[in-house]
Amino acid sequence: MSRRLLLVNGPNLNLLGTREPEIYGADTLADVEALVERTAAAFGLEVRAVQSNHEGSLIDAIHAAREDCAAIVINPAAFTHTSVALRDALSGVGLPIAEVHISNVHAREEFRHRSFVSDIASCVIVGCGVQGYEFAVRRLAALLSD
Ligand code: DQA
Repeated sequence: MSRRLLLVNGPNLNLLGTREPEIYGADTLADVEALVERTAAAFGLEVRAVQSNHEGSLIDAIHAAREDCAAIVINPAAFTHTSVALRDALSGVGLPIAEVHISNVHAREEFRHRSFVSDIASCVIVGCGVQGYEFAVRRLAALLSD
């Protein structure tokens, strides 16, 4: 079995660190990717990190994971609340999924309360800041070792 995780960050997450820091904190996307790589390495897992502002690019990356990844950590960002296509890609590849949101989406606008991903995810982590990505890796590593 593959020992690689796919880390997917959706639109606007390339701006982490400068984008609404009162909501998303001061860590950058590079910090998040380093955190995920460090955490995964402790479990003998590699990481392929992808960020895109384009729905189709995210879908292509998810399809490619079928070839050589064991699980997916994804923060679909705004596409969480809008994209049936992203949901279908995730359910289509059939890998375990950890859905992460840095902010507590349930304490924000109503339109952020609905996720097209949560009911097909193995776990959902919201409102833990970027530490949520670490929790996601730990959970997937545990699932993969079962
Ligand atoms: C987010 C929450 C989404 O509602 C928002 O569109 C994002 C980031 C989060 O990590 O808290 O871009 O997924």
